[in-house]
Amino acid sequence: MKVFNSPSGGPFLVWALAVQLVLCGSGVFANEDTKNCILPSESESERKVLDRLAPLAHKNFTVQTKNEKNEEYTYVFQLCGDAGGVPGAGVIQLGSKKTDKPTVVGSYNATQAIGGSDWVMLIYRGGDKYDGHCSMESRRAIIMISCNRKIDVGPLEVIAEDRERVQDCFYLFELDTSAVCPPVQSQISTGSIILIIGFCLLAVYLIGGFLYQRLIVGAKGMEQFPNYAFWVEVGNLTADGCDFVCRSRNREEPPAYRGVATEPLEEEPEERDDHLLPM
Ligand SMILES: *[C@@H]1O[C@H](CO)[C@@H](O)[C@H](O)[C@H]1NC(C)=O
Ligand SMILES: *[C@@H]1O[C@H](CO)[C@@H](O)[C@H](O)[C@H]1NC(C)=O
Repeated sequence: MKVFNSPSGGPFLVWALAVQLVLCGSGVFANEDTKNCILPSESESERKVLDRLAPLAHKNFTVQTKNEKNEEYTYVFQLCGDAGGVPGAGVIQLGSKKTDKPTVVGSYNATQAIGGSDWVMLIYRGGDKYDGHCSMESRRAIIMISCNRKIDVGPLEVIAEDRERVQDCFYLFELDTSAVCPPVQSQISTGSIILIIGFCLLAVYLIGGFLYQRLIVGAKGMEQFPNYAFWVEVGNLTADGCDFVCRSRNREEPPAYRGVATEPLEEEPEERDDHLLPM
């Protein structure tokens, strides 16, 4: 395991854990960055999904497109803030002429947030009404925000404007960001952390003890090991214990076998002789 290469890994991990705990605790408070978004059917889980987007707040995301008729449009998106400075608008559409009044595609006072493990779908309803399409309903913007660990926040992209239907038309946008990525799970288990801490303590003991024995006690050779006599004794006792537990044959037995095999054969006739002699 590569973590064993650096004895400083243990203390560092402990600090990392402590910092993470503090960060988790701070998530309890309401999020300033997303509180302007009004979720008409608010639930705690929906607010949590929205809060994952907090790093995107206070930023105008801009994208330019050209439609089939070669008309240029600019879209501006802002998370829970006035897109392009238009009050209440979450997404606006600007025509190519600067004098054109911006069209509100979605308002952040009618937000809906749906999320999965590595994506969040943000829906802004309540935009300006269509002039002729889509039963003249209000415009609606859908922003699909996906996890991409390589970038902080990617550029906004227009995917489609679907207005050739009777209702439920929408403008679809896409945005990549690392903000919605699932947290990276620590690759080190509790058991390994305990092992590392134990290893560090052992290293401190050995090095500290060695220095103490060498510099203060003035020991030489093997005596420089901390508590040398104690560990030698422990080693011997362990060997004895192992000998006692693990050895299958008793060490005293081999002579006894020899005795059975040889001596009695020689002695027994003598004994018989002794019995016979007095008779
Ligand atoms: C967004 O754009 C508008 C208009 O350009 C500007 O007034 C506003 O300050 C911008 N907001 C942010 C957070 O950059
Ligand atoms: C959002 O704001 C607009 C005007 O600012 C208002 O007409 C609309 O009713 C509001 N919608 C909600 C859901 O509050």
